[in-house]
Amino acid sequence: MKYQSLRGMKDILPEEAPLWQKIEAACSKKFQQFNYQEIRTPIMEMTELFARAVGQSTDIVSKEMYSFTDKGNRNVVLRPEGTAPIVRACLEHNLISKDKITKLYYFGPMFRYERPQAGRYRQFHQVGIEAFGSADPALDAETILLAVSIFKDLGLTDLEVDLNSVGCKECRPRFDSRLRAYLKGFIVQMCEDCHIRYKKNPLRILDCKKPTCQNITNEILQKIGDSDYLCADCKDHFEKLKSILDSLSVNYKINKRLVRGLDYYTKTTYEVISSSLGAQNAVCGGGRYDNLVEDFGGSSVPAVGFAIGMERLVEIMKLKDQNAKLKANVQLYIAPLGEEAKSKAVEYLQKAREAGISADMDYQDKKLKAQLKIANAIGAKYVLILGDDELKKNIVVLRDMQANSQEEITFEEVLARIR
Ligand code: HAM
Repeated sequence: MKYQSLRGMKDILPEEAPLWQKIEAACSKKFQQFNYQEIRTPIMEMTELFARAVGQSTDIVSKEMYSFTDKGNRNVVLRPEGTAPIVRACLEHNLISKDKITKLYYFGPMFRYERPQAGRYRQFHQVGIEAFGSADPALDAETILLAVSIFKDLGLTDLEVDLNSVGCKECRPRFDSRLRAYLKGFIVQMCEDCHIRYKKNPLRILDCKKPTCQNITNEILQKIGDSDYLCADCKDHFEKLKSILDSLSVNYKINKRLVRGLDYYTKTTYEVISSSLGAQNAVCGGGRYDNLVEDFGGSSVPAVGFAIGMERLVEIMKLKDQNAKLKANVQLYIAPLGEEAKSKAVEYLQKAREAGISADMDYQDKKLKAQLKIANAIGAKYVLILGDDELKKNIVVLRDMQANSQEEITFEEVLARIR
C-alpha cells in the first residue's frame, strides 16, 4: 500500500525549507523592532470558541471546521485561525487590560476543510500579530506598516494594500438594513449563498465572487460614497487612518467589497493582495476587532491584528526568484578515500563542527569524482580530500570549490582558513 499525505495538506520539503526559514527570520526581526512578543497556543481548542468569535454563519465555522468529539466527549476543533485562541489565552492568563498595550505575534499551522486549489490548503501556516489596548487609528496604521515592511524586507514591492471600514455596533445594523432595502428587488436573481447572507449578514453579499451578484452590487457600491454609511466615530477613525498611512507613504486602495470572512471585525479591514497569485491572491488579511475581548467575557479592550499566509508568501517569493530554493549552507565537505582515511575523517568532521564550522562527509565509500559531485550539489565551499598519501604525510588536500583550485595544508590550517 502506498501512503500519501491527506488531500489539501502538503509536505514542506528540505529544498523549500530554507525559504520558510528566511521568511520566519525576516518576520521575527520586524516583530522585535515593533516590540511584539511571541505567544504559542495549542493547535486544538474548544469548538465553541470559533463559533462565537468567527461567527456561526461564516464559511469557516459552518462548513470548514475540523471538529470532532474527543474521548472525553468534548467538542474540539483544529484551530482554523489564530485570533480567537489568542484572545482566549490573553484572558486566561490576564495578559491584557484597557490600561496597557499588549502586542503579540505567532507562527503556526491552521486548518480549514476547504476545497483545495492553488494557494488554498486544508492545513496551511500563518504568521500573525495581535495588538490589544488602543482604539487609536495609529495602531491600525502600525499593523499595516508592519505587514508592508515585512514584504519590503523580503524584496516584495509589487503588492497592493486594500482598505475598508465595516463600521461598528452603532452603524453596521443601519447599513445592513440599507443594504437589505437596496437588494430586496434583486435578491431573486442572486446565488443561493447570497440568499442566506441576505438573511444573516447582508454585508457579506458585497464579497460574493459570482458575476451576476457582483453586477447587482456594483450599482449599489456606486451609489454609496467611500464611507457615508459609517457613523461619525467610524468615519473619523477611517479618515485619520487614511491620513496616517498617507503621511507614512503607505500606498493603499479603498475596496468597499473588503468585508472579510470573519464576523469579529469592526471599523478597519485590510488585505495585502498579490497580482502574481491566482484566484487566492490575498497574502495577508487583518483588521480591527474592538468587541471580541468583551464578547469573550473580558472588559472592553480594543484590538487590531493581521495574519499572513505563509504558503502564499513562499509562492510569491518563488515566482519572483526562480533560484529562491536556497541551497543548504555547508562550509566543509570531507571526502575520505579508503578505510583508514574514513576513521580520520570522522575525527576531523567532529573537530570542524566543534570549531563552529558546518561540515559533513561521505558515508557511502564513493569514488572521489562522485564525492565532489555531492559536495557541489549541497553547495559546499571547501572539500577536504583525505587519502593514504595525505595520511602518511599528516596533511590534507583542501579544494576551494569556487576558485576550482586545491592545495596541501594541515588540518589546523583548514580550520583557521574556514573560520
Ligand atoms: P484570514 O483572511 O482568514 O484572516 O487569513 C489570513 C491569511 O491566511 C489569508 O490572507 C491567506 O493568505 C491565508 N489563508 C487563509 N486560508 C488559507 C488556506 N486555506 N490556504 C492557504 N492560506 C490561507 C485570519 O485568519 C485572521 N485571524 C487574521 C487576523 C488577525 N485578523 C485580525 N488579527
